[in-house]
Amino acid sequence: MNRRLAVLVSGRGTNLQSIVDATRSGHLDAAVAVVLSNRQDVAALLRARDAGIEALFVDPREYPNRYAYDRAIVDALEARDVGLVCLAGFMRVVGRPLLSAFPGRILNIHPSLLPSFAGLDAQRQALEHGVKVTGATVHLVSAELDAGPIVLQAAVPVADDDTEETLSARILVEEHRIYPEAIGMVLDAKWRIDGRRFVRLS
Ligand code: GRF
Repeated sequence: MNRRLAVLVSGRGTNLQSIVDATRSGHLDAAVAVVLSNRQDVAALLRARDAGIEALFVDPREYPNRYAYDRAIVDALEARDVGLVCLAGFMRVVGRPLLSAFPGRILNIHPSLLPSFAGLDAQRQALEHGVKVTGATVHLVSAELDAGPIVLQAAVPVADDDTEETLSARILVEEHRIYPEAIGMVLDAKWRIDGRRFVRLS
């Protein structure tokens, strides 16, 4: 698989940073070709620029609808010969144009053990529900929110005195570990999808 990555962001970009760091340290055999944000002036774009990576702000307000916006993203990524798209805190639902331009080639990271606690504020949802274990999930992106085949997960115990902040911080450590690893697994192309399952081939 083409090892040129696009990372789509909306905020602080710590997962982006972990991916960039892994490509630079040799832990991940890939290169971040472009970082694309739907929000201007976010920390993630600064991180990209600091790393010498093209940082692109694509303004949703310049497009009449979601379809046109997604199309613009596809054009930008195809122009840069991107092989795999990594959503890293990208706060928009991915639409048809992106899904069909990159079938099975869009990944997302989510701060819970999916299918528990999909959607926003997953860490708060886990605390409020009272689970004793939560975690992080990297999955392939499908048309449904936070629901595609799971590539990799890591469990994080919930402590009685956890707050949303302390729990999020411990989950984030695992996110930074498993996202680059999952990207490597998907790029190595020794896997298939069996029903809902992402199965590695030996
Ligand atoms: C992470 O918790 C990720 O799981 C979720 O959004 C957050 C993004 O954080 N999808 P960052 O921008 O990578 O620091």
